[in-house]
Amino acid sequence: LTDTTTKGELDSMQLFQLRVSAALALLLCSLAAGRQVSQCAPADSPRLRFVAQLSVNGCALFVHDTGASDGPHLAVEPLVCVTDSLRGIVPRFDFITQQLYFSVPVLMKDAGMLAEAKRQLRHLSPRSVSFATVTNISVSADTRSSVRVLGFPWTPNESVATLRLGFGEKITYEALNLRASMLGLANIDQLTKVFLLPNTHISRRNKIENSTIETLKNVKLSATLLLNGCFHEVQSRIMLQNDSFIEVGLYRKKFLPACRQMRFSRYVKLENCSVRVHQRLDIKGHFLIEPLLCHNISSLSSESVRYDYSRDMHYLKLDLVLQDEATRDALRTQLADLSPRSVDFMRLWTAERSVSSSLSARFEVGPLMASTDWRSARLRLYCGNWTECRDLRAAVLAEPADLWRHVQWRVTSLVAEQCLSKSSQITSSWRMKPPVSDSCFSLQSCARLQCASAQRTANSSSAVQLQPDGRCFLKIQQRLTGRVSFQRNWTEYETGFGDGTDFWIGLSAIHSLSQGGATLRVEMKLWSGSELHAEYAGFRVGDASTGYRMTYREMLSHRSSVSWNALELSKDMRFSTMDRDNDIWGASCSSRYGKGGWWFKDCHQCNPSGRFPRRETPDSRYMVWYSGSFWLSLREMRLLLQI
Ligand SMILES: *[C@@H]1O[C@H](CO)[C@@H](O)[C@H](O)[C@H]1NC(C)=O
Ligand SMILES: *[C@@H]1O[C@H](CO)[C@@H](O)[C@H](O)[C@H]1NC(C)=O
Ligand SMILES: *[C@@H]1O[C@H](CO)[C@@H](O)[C@H](O)[C@H]1NC(C)=O
Ligand SMILES: *[C@@H]1O[C@H](CO)[C@@H](O)[C@H](O)[C@H]1NC(C)=O
Ligand SMILES: *[C@@H]1O[C@H](CO)[C@@H](O)[C@H](O)[C@H]1NC(C)=O
Ligand SMILES: *[C@@H]1O[C@H](CO)[C@@H](O)[C@H](O)[C@H]1NC(C)=O
Ligand SMILES: *[C@@H]1O[C@H](CO)[C@@H](O)[C@H](O)[C@H]1NC(C)=O
Ligand SMILES: *[C@@H]1O[C@H](CO)[C@@H](O)[C@H](O)[C@H]1NC(C)=O
Ligand SMILES: *[C@@H]1O[C@H](CO)[C@@H](O)[C@H](O)[C@H]1NC(C)=O
Repeated sequence: LTDTTTKGELDSMQLFQLRVSAALALLLCSLAAGRQVSQCAPADSPRLRFVAQLSVNGCALFVHDTGASDGPHLAVEPLVCVTDSLRGIVPRFDFITQQLYFSVPVLMKDAGMLAEAKRQLRHLSPRSVSFATVTNISVSADTRSSVRVLGFPWTPNESVATLRLGFGEKITYEALNLRASMLGLANIDQLTKVFLLPNTHISRRNKIENSTIETLKNVKLSATLLLNGCFHEVQSRIMLQNDSFIEVGLYRKKFLPACRQMRFSRYVKLENCSVRVHQRLDIKGHFLIEPLLCHNISSLSSESVRYDYSRDMHYLKLDLVLQDEATRDALRTQLADLSPRSVDFMRLWTAERSVSSSLSARFEVGPLMASTDWRSARLRLYCGNWTECRDLRAAVLAEPADLWRHVQWRVTSLVAEQCLSKSSQITSSWRMKPPVSDSCFSLQSCARLQCASAQRTANSSSAVQLQPDGRCFLKIQQRLTGRVSFQRNWTEYETGFGDGTDFWIGLSAIHSLSQGGATLRVEMKLWSGSELHAEYAGFRVGDASTGYRMTYREMLSHRSSVSWNALELSKDMRFSTMDRDNDIWGASCSSRYGKGGWWFKDCHQCNPSGRFPRRETPDSRYMVWYSGSFWLSLREMRLLLQI
């Protein structure tokens, strides 16, 4: 699209907005007290002009210029900020409506914060800074939320309002008492402390807290402000103190003029992300980049599949990059022919999206939330249940463009002097750096990423192994060459050691990978060249306080090529090394049998950490596995955990 079309469209859009707000001003004024009517004739109706978003004490403050002729009079919207920690908020029972509810205090005005706002606004030399007069306010919540807004009692001159949230479910006091006694609780007060929403598999307490937080974020406010004799409607949301992401759509109703003095310059396709650049006509050599809206694939880990407590649904969290120094530097180089003096990012102001019907039929796209520093943004894709979200994540990892071609953006961006640059350019998103194995959040998420990639390419990697039936295993121990000594102390067995071919991943890692039970696979190669394997279900290693006690449920004989269970002795044993003897034998099994670490009892029937043999050595100080009647000397061995 050329810049001309962009402008044409925007101008008519603004004209429309102008007419609407003039009509609204007229209507509101005629409804208001007679005193104000004369001041609100559309011709001289002063315009509310948005001037700043401040952050004071972790709460967002939106500041407007009332448009009065005698110099800037600045009006601050009510804060609607939840500052109290939500933890410890206890639901109460309303006997009239027979509902459980919470009362959440919401800070609306605060003299100290106004003083701080004044300080931050000094550079505008305002004649006055005050809270806007609120004539009325209405509150509503996302209708799909499992928690409802029951009320928002507030007298506009009070500093704190109370938001009352209820669970949809009605329940009689008797039924509540019955539940309390069934749960063995003394009284209803105790019950309300643990009371749950239906179908909970998650801690009830967490669910209440989390759903309250989620619901709070979904509560919309619409307030009418009386400023300079005119009414103005503003929209907002309940905000949480120190919340680092706020909804981009909040700005839609905050008026700012369109920028003049800007010309679309060029469209630059960088390595992984496309960029639109504008040139300032009034400042020589000054270029501005539109917010990127590029999808950061590296952030897509297994932790990206999350649960929305308020809507009782899983969603996939997608991280977008809006501003990025590396991109700015790359662009400076690309613009070298135009001799740029400065290259800056615009700030994202609004981002309307359209979603193709094939995407919206399967998934629901939530609001776009931008970080308060404007560098990144998040989008939720509601997918229904966990399985569907996991599959969606795998699909996006495999080919991000398959998702992003269904989402198109219409963006307005803020330029430093508080004017807006609009872009009806269809923007989609691109792949940033691909996942690298050391940039995931946890061992689990790294392993899952590796497995996702292995399953995609149908190839095993050095870290994970793909079975012919599609199951993916992470290697936790491997001995192929004997280059790495397994005669190590406790600390080393705890944290892990080795190189790419011979290694022990570490007990603390095995503990975190096996929480809840995992399938352990043992693979062995004999000197004859034949290969053996065994699998164990429910394998689990405790934490350090248990001495990394190991247990498993059963050996899976249908998945094993050996019949004797050589791990029998290790079951329920603590780990032992040459410097920490946790076995039940009089002396140290480790020191006696090769100085490796293992779950020894009154010693062992397998010795994966024993000495590495150079030739067939059926000696139990070496790497061996007991067959039921004799020692099998192992040439190679590997332990794996199913991911
Ligand atoms: C709020 O306003 C009412 C009437 O306008 C007044 O009576 C009351 O004292 C005010 N309260 C506070 C806390 O200023
Ligand atoms: C939400 O629940 C999870 C557990 O499901 C818990 O770890 C987390 O702390 C909760 N979040 C809040 C803000 O309470
Ligand atoms: C406030 O009151 C006016 C009429 O006085 C009404 O038109 C407007 O919709 C109300 N706004 C809210 C947010 O309730
Ligand atoms: C917000 O941050 C401030 C300072 O960083 C801290 O004192 C306050 O407890 C935080 N509030 C909440 C609700 O987390
Ligand atoms: C992308 O996400 C990764 C992982 O969260 C993060 O480390 C990296 O800084 C992000 N990249 C950008 C450009 O924001
Ligand atoms: C997830 O949802 C899909 C489609 O609604 C359904 O086919 C599948 O059985 C669900 N899976 C689980 C584990 O509930
Ligand atoms: C772009 O992606 C490639 C691989 O897809 C990666 O190697 C490169 O580092 C990325 N570049 C940037 C600037 O993120
Ligand atoms: C899988 O591995 C084989 C051999 O190592 C290689 O030739 C092939 O290109 C790999 N396939 C993919 C999709 O990486
Ligand atoms: C364990 O071995 C490492 C490497 O040889 C050594 O640095 C460390 O001090 C040893 N720890 C103990 C407790 O002996």
